[in-house]
Amino acid sequence: MTDSVFKGRSLLAEKDFTKEELNYLIDFSIHLKKLKKQGIPHHYLEGKNIALLFEKTSTRTRSAFTTASIDLGAHPEFLGKNDIQLGKKESVEDTAKVLGSMFDGIEFRGFSQQVVEDLAKYSCVPVWNGLTDEWHPTQMIADYMTIKENFGTLEDVTLVYVGDGRNNMANSLLITGAILGVNVRICAPESLFPEESVVAYAKKFAAGSGSEIMITDDVAQGVQGANVLYTDVWVSKGEEDKFEERVRLLKDYQINMEMVNKTGNAQGKLIVLHCLPAFHDATTEYGQMVKEKFGISEMEITDEVFRSQYGRQFEEALIECILLKQSWQQR
Ligand code: NVA
Repeated sequence: MTDSVFKGRSLLAEKDFTKEELNYLIDFSIHLKKLKKQGIPHHYLEGKNIALLFEKTSTRTRSAFTTASIDLGAHPEFLGKNDIQLGKKESVEDTAKVLGSMFDGIEFRGFSQQVVEDLAKYSCVPVWNGLTDEWHPTQMIADYMTIKENFGTLEDVTLVYVGDGRNNMANSLLITGAILGVNVRICAPESLFPEESVVAYAKKFAAGSGSEIMITDDVAQGVQGANVLYTDVWVSKGEEDKFEERVRLLKDYQINMEMVNKTGNAQGKLIVLHCLPAFHDATTEYGQMVKEKFGISEMEITDEVFRSQYGRQFEEALIECILLKQSWQQR
């Protein structure tokens, strides 16, 4: 495979990439991480301008794209939801054409997958999906890169995602793992199982890669043998009216020490990941509200596990800023 397969390419959803291409992105990200750590300049994008569109809030992805642009010698320009109103004041098509005429690449975080696809269609520059309701592909490079760094390989690794099984993170982890040959289990209550179409995609990719896919509501069966326990917030951005339902449905799917012990794997064979932000205590406003209303001070992961030797969530957040460079370099 040559670098040219990435030329002008957008990163909209994982299903558009082959196993070989995803592995290349992961390995190239590891290489860029080394350059950064060693202080070796890598201004591959000197003179380029990057638009960062954020309809939804962001800490890591915004910081990652900003620092990655600057490290690569490019200029990032942030456009938040009050600066740009896609589809409200100006159509997505017109906005894409304007941005595409001025910027060399566009990152988009928002609600609709269709919007990010249309931005790519009409702007004629590479577009990177920084999260939609359906997918979170940039996070996937960070996740599977972290897993590879920890275990040295993606072969024979079993990743178990516990929690809201039909959100962007569950979808992306399932599809990406299936392409890469990682065994992926989604452990969630039945009403929060992934959409049939997503499972069908995963099974199709798994048939080619040898990955084993499991969708289960049984925690003991789901987490047995896990090398990676992964979780995400119970209530994603845009669903803030769903706390009551999710606490009720997901309280038995919390990552705690009992669940860690149920994996049967110890230090060296097990890590815990979370894409962040995490509700591991009641120090936030939402954390306080949930404590007052529902009587729990930790949601998807306990503070004990979050701060334990298994937790790799901060290591991973740091990595995300490095991985993003790679897709830009390949233009
Ligand atoms: N499922 C979460 C992911 C945050 C990175 C959300 O969409 O809010």
